[in-house]
Amino acid sequence: MTTRAVVRGVGHYLPAKVVPNAAFEDTLDTSDEWIRTRTGIERRRFAAEGETTSTMAAEAARRALDAAGLTADEVDAVIVATSTPDLTFPSAATMVQSALGMRRGFAFDLQAVCAGFVYALATANALLVAGQARRILVIGAETFSKILDWTDRSTCVLFGDGAGALVLEAQTGAGTAGDRGILACDLHSDGAFRDLLYVDGGVSTGRTGVLRMEGREVFRHAVEKLADTAEAALGQIGLSGADVDWIVPHQANLRIIKATAQRMGVPLERVVVTVQDHGNTSAASIPLALSTGVERGQIRQGDLLVTEAIGGGLAWGAVILRW
Ligand code: UT7
Repeated sequence: MTTRAVVRGVGHYLPAKVVPNAAFEDTLDTSDEWIRTRTGIERRRFAAEGETTSTMAAEAARRALDAAGLTADEVDAVIVATSTPDLTFPSAATMVQSALGMRRGFAFDLQAVCAGFVYALATANALLVAGQARRILVIGAETFSKILDWTDRSTCVLFGDGAGALVLEAQTGAGTAGDRGILACDLHSDGAFRDLLYVDGGVSTGRTGVLRMEGREVFRHAVEKLADTAEAALGQIGLSGADVDWIVPHQANLRIIKATAQRMGVPLERVVVTVQDHGNTSAASIPLALSTGVERGQIRQGDLLVTEAIGGGLAWGAVILRW
């Protein structure tokens, strides 16, 4: 018998404001055609005035709790994966805890940029398996619209805002790859690549700063590293791409998503793709895709899922879970 971190519920929140690619054509030397063909992005959502990472995270959490048939009091911990918390501190997670009316348990943020949700799943899994908590809300939430340079066409057209949440619960499994829940995790980072993708501000500079990226270099690392980490995670439990029902990838660029699936031998029909509607929402992209995949009827109970992501750090990794 083995303790497994099993998904009890999923939910997401997207801000109402939809921004199509064409909206950038007035102020930048760019086009809907360039953005579509180079990235797969067609539109993205931007948070309204007063809407923050923690308010979006709390709404996604409420929807995940509803889907699970649970109340906030029945959850022991809240983890928010984000690089855009409302304030330097306290954590967005404690703000979510407060918004949900939770007066017990513990809450903290986890920052691994676009790999944040994969890292958060692995962390929640470790806490559940160790018996530190019985149920954990694992949330990915971002407001990247607050850290974009609106004069830089190579970055500002790529990102969007939103939040997605899962309720994970410790359940007893047989200890085989047939169990529901998290089955394997593979995490990496290499700070030697820190200059490829970063925000040029923060506590040390006295201003929030904006995102800077060497897109072509990050692209090269993504294509190389994502299939490797996914295959390493699958290999831990003796599985391969042929066993996968759905890849639920970080949604940065459709060309990266396709190349990774191809390297894993998984056809594009078995990949949940939301980048066209959400853009790159960093740590929110995987839970948004999980929730959307369930809504669309793609992801069903018992399906074997691979989540994989790479981002600033560089930090990357994969988590295998049976839904
Ligand atoms: O989520 C974290 C991880 N991030 C990623 O995974 C992002 C990885 N990188 C990418 O997705 C792609 O590298 C980008 C979408 C950022 C860029 O696509 P690319 O095919 O690598 O383009 P590029 O950077 O090689 O640029 C090609 C050309 C350049 O012009 P020249 O130098 O060839 O004349 C750019 O200046 O496209 C130009 N360009 C644009 N043109 C129109 C860059 N951005 C734009 C734009 N509109 N928005």
